[in-house]
Formats: sequence, C-alpha cells, structure tokens
Amino acid sequence: MNSTLRLVDVSAPLGCRQCAYFHRNVGAGEASCRSDGSISASFCGLSWRQQRGLNAWTLRSSCARVVKRRWRDRQTCGIHCELKNVAEQECLLDNESILANRKVLLHGGQNGSSDGAVAESNLEREAWDLLRDAVVTYCGEPVGTIAANDPTDPHPLNYDQVFIRDFIPSAIAFLLKGETEIVRNFLLHTLQLQSWEKTVDCYCPGQGLMPASFKVRTVYLDGDETKGTEEILDPDFGEAAIGRVAPVDSGLWWIILLRAYGKCTGDISLQERVDVQTGIKMILKVCLADGFDMFPTLLVTDGSCMIDRRMGIHGHPLEIQALFYQALRCAREILVPEDGAGDLIRQINARLAALSFHIQEYYWLDISKVNEIYRYKTEEYSTEAVNKFNIYPEQVSQWLLDWMPETGGYFIGNLQPAHMDFRWFALGNMWSICSGLATENQAEDILKLVESKWDDLIATMPMKICFPALTEDEWRIITGADPKNTAWSYHNGGSWPTLLWQFTTACIKMNRPDLAERAIEIAEKRLSRDRWPEYYDTKKGRFIGKQARLYQTWSIAGYLTSKLLSKNPDAANWLTCEEDDHYAILLEANPNLKRKFKASPNIFVV
Ligand code: GLC
Repeated sequence: MNSTLRLVDVSAPLGCRQCAYFHRNVGAGEASCRSDGSISASFCGLSWRQQRGLNAWTLRSSCARVVKRRWRDRQTCGIHCELKNVAEQECLLDNESILANRKVLLHGGQNGSSDGAVAESNLEREAWDLLRDAVVTYCGEPVGTIAANDPTDPHPLNYDQVFIRDFIPSAIAFLLKGETEIVRNFLLHTLQLQSWEKTVDCYCPGQGLMPASFKVRTVYLDGDETKGTEEILDPDFGEAAIGRVAPVDSGLWWIILLRAYGKCTGDISLQERVDVQTGIKMILKVCLADGFDMFPTLLVTDGSCMIDRRMGIHGHPLEIQALFYQALRCAREILVPEDGAGDLIRQINARLAALSFHIQEYYWLDISKVNEIYRYKTEEYSTEAVNKFNIYPEQVSQWLLDWMPETGGYFIGNLQPAHMDFRWFALGNMWSICSGLATENQAEDILKLVESKWDDLIATMPMKICFPALTEDEWRIITGADPKNTAWSYHNGGSWPTLLWQFTTACIKMNRPDLAERAIEIAEKRLSRDRWPEYYDTKKGRFIGKQARLYQTWSIAGYLTSKLLSKNPDAANWLTCEEDDHYAILLEANPNLKRKFKASPNIFVV
C-alpha cells in the first residue's frame, strides 16, 4: 500500500545545494511510500528517490541533466522525513488549513511542532511566507534576501539585490527560528566580496569595505555561450548606487551579525576561521586608520548608512558611531587573541573608552543641557573652554525649546565644529542603548523620551527615522531640494517599520517590554493590510510612503524579529552588550577626568 508523507524539518547538511531550491518550491512537498520501502517524491521540479533505510534523497538519473554543472558532485540532500499516513487526518481539515499546515511543516516551522513554542499568528505565518519568498540562492544555497519582492513593480532598481543592512533583521529572524544555514552562507559569501585593493582614481572602494549590496547573476562560462552558464555574485560598493554613497555601515553590521551567529549557534568555529578573522581585522583597519580627524568618532560622508541620500548627516553621525561602538565591542569579543591581535585589542579598548566618553558627554541632550547651550558663551580660546565646539546659542531652534520634555533625553544626530544637529535619529539612539554606548541612566532616559513623545516618534506606525523633518529653506539647502526626501517623507521624517526590531531589542534590554509590545500592536494593525511598505509618510505616519516599495523585506523581517524576540527575550543578548567597565575604571582612577578631558585624549593613547 502506498502512503503519503509529509516532509518536515528541512535541515540540509552544509553544502547541500538542492535544499535551497526545496525551500523556494514549498508547494511540492509530498511524497509517496512504495511497497518496496523506497520513497518517491517530487520537489524542486525534480524527481527524487529515497531508498529504504537510507536518510538521503537521490536525484533520479533521468533528471540529472537539468542540474547545473556546479551541482554535479552533490546529488544528495539530508531532508528528514516524518512518515505518516496523513490521509485520514487530512479529511478532517479543510483544504486551506492543509495547505497552511503543509507550508509550515515544509518550512520546519515552530507551529505544529511539539516543542512547546508559542503558536504563530496568521500574520506571522504570512510574514514567514513572504520572507521565504524573498530568499536568494547562489548555486542552490540560500545566501540572503532581496530588499523588496513586489511582483507588480516594473522598476525594482536595485531593490532586487541583497543589501547587507537589510538582511540583518532577516538573519536574526532565521537565527531565532533555528535556521542558521542562510546566515552562515551570507557571512561567508559577503566576506569573499570584501574589497581587497584600493585605486583611488578609479572610484574603487577602500580595502576592507563591505559592499552595500550584491546580486546573483547568471553568466556564460568563460563568456562562451556554448559552455553553459554559472552564477556569480556581483557586489555594489556604492559605485553604482544613487549618489555613489559608500556604505560605511555594512562592515559594522557584518561584525555585529557574526557575533550574533556565534552566540545563537554556540558554534564559534566560524568566527575563528583565519579568513573570517582577517575579514574582521580588515574592517577594523579601515575604521581605526589615522586621518586628519581629532575626534574618536568616525568621520564619514553624507548618506553612508541607512540614510543613504543627502540629508546633512556627513561628519560624525550618531548612527555610524553607535554601530561602530557595537562593532568594536563585538570584535573585541570574537577576535582570537593570538596572531598579533594584542595590539589591535589595545587599540580597540582605547577607542571604545574615548568614543563612549565623547558621545556620552557631548552628544547627550536633556532639558538642562539645552538650557546650558542656550546660555553658551562663544569664541572661547582655551583647552578648558566650556563651549568646546563653539556652538552658537542661536542654533537652538524653537522646535527644540518647545519639544524637549522635562524628563528623558537623547543623543543628538551629529556634532562638528560650530554645529550640533539636534534632530532625533532612531537607529543611532536605539543602538546606543543596545551596544552599551549610553550609560544605564541615559538608556533609560532615551526610552522615557520615546514614551513621552510617543505621538511624534511612534504615532500610527513605529517608528520615525528622524524628528523633526527638514522643511522649506532647510530642506532646500540641506537635502539639495531632494524630491524624495520632502518633509515627513522617506529619510526626512518618514516612519520605517523596520526600525521596530531595533526598538524592541532596546526595550527588552532595558526591561521595558511593555513599550515594545505597544509598538508591535500598532504595527500589526496595518502592515499586512498595507502590503508591508518600506516606509510611511506624514507627521503621524498615516500614509504609505509616496515612493515606498511594497513587500519590503526588512519591514517583514523587522516585524518577525520583533515578535520572536518578544517571545524569547533572552535572545536579545545576541545583539546587546552591557555598559563597558573600561571607561568606568578610568573614571574611578581619575575622578577629575571629566573636567580635564580634551578633544584629543592623550590619556587613552596606548
Ligand atoms: C534605501 C534605504 C536603504 C536600504 C535600501 C534597500 O536606499 O535608504 O537604507 O538599504 O533602500 O532597502
């Protein structure tokens, strides 16, 4: 008698190239058991056979010719099966639930499993289906997720590529789901794309830079159409990106994800590999290199991070500093101490202490600091100057005087000579909390500020990328009259669902899950109905963004990651660090440090 099988727990051994195809063809996961004990199945558009007693699938030879050249040596797949005669069960279910159930099983999902995991809602299931549809494969292996997957979009531009920063929430969602292979593949493949040489006159990326994104392309072997095709990974370091912006954040995210992978899987062999250690060192080398700058913060051009257009964030934007700090913390944890890493670790320690001092002292803003700046004297020539950066009190705009609450505070967006950018930026503030860059009091105060300014920063869609928007002359001068970044749209005060997971992580770290839950509930009301947009427009985020992509992957993954982290808050520590004691120890030994500290802190030179 033939029975029907459900295929469950699609966990293929590393290097199995068929598995990814299987993931993407979820509809074909049924197999039948034959009287000789062998199992025949059809998935990936191919026919497979599993012999009795063997837990490996063999591709039937008649189909072998459709398999790509690069797969020839790998024709088995370790898909574990659960043998069940499901015919009886299925007659109790209507067709739709059979389909939904089957998809979950095929995805190795938690729903329907007996591991006691919290059940998934329909919304989460929808998000998982969409996230899996966005998976990109390279030579049959899952290596990332495309930025947006809107089937009705005729001009995807580069949204059909895998962006490093966009993949982070996808990666965390997969890790939380126990599907670690895609993350490992991503880390290793992007490592191969890292820039190795610099030719300034050819607009080439600097050594150590990680690409903003990459695309899987199919090309003829040796350029000869008669030889068949192969897949290649084609990176973009910004040389094709709109505005030619260099993605400084990519390498920082890569290190942060590498550490999260190790924490999640307990497998530190990946981070200990020589090529991986070299990759970390190259990223650090470019970040720690001497330049003309005197601050411990990283000096970058406009648009070098999530905000990848002209938005007046050149110089020392908070977002880069917070990610830099977190990347340094992660690197220090995962660098293998031998092989001359000692000097590098000393350099990291020195930079961490100086960076945290600089941000905590000079970027922090609360009502009393606003009052201090409001009364600043200017043109002080002295190392002891109170107004070190020569900030003119006239810079304190009316919106800030009206907006700053009595309690709570935040880190400003940027600090340069004679310039404080008082705008609130979500990502930088959230990562200041997660990374331990903010002191515990500051971290609490940032969340207090979000709570008291909920209607501005969360409103009807979490959360505002920055606040307030640049308007009129400021918009014209600072953005260059960018029609995509008009007031309360896109990067200029738009609301981005992907920021939800970073807010959730910060809330969990600070023991304020209530705030995260409130925000998640708000997002849940609209995301699916609005087809998972990239961003929302207007002051309260009431409208789908003017030019927002739909089915934007990091909106989907950001939601899933937030949900999964709320159910498993301990996992937030894959992404967080406690406040570093390094600076505290220095302070204890030098109680006058705060007053004496100068812009160029010799005290930290090792
Ligand atoms: C936009 C965003 C950028 C994102 C990219 C892909 O350019 O500004 O942060 O990585 O789209 O989603």
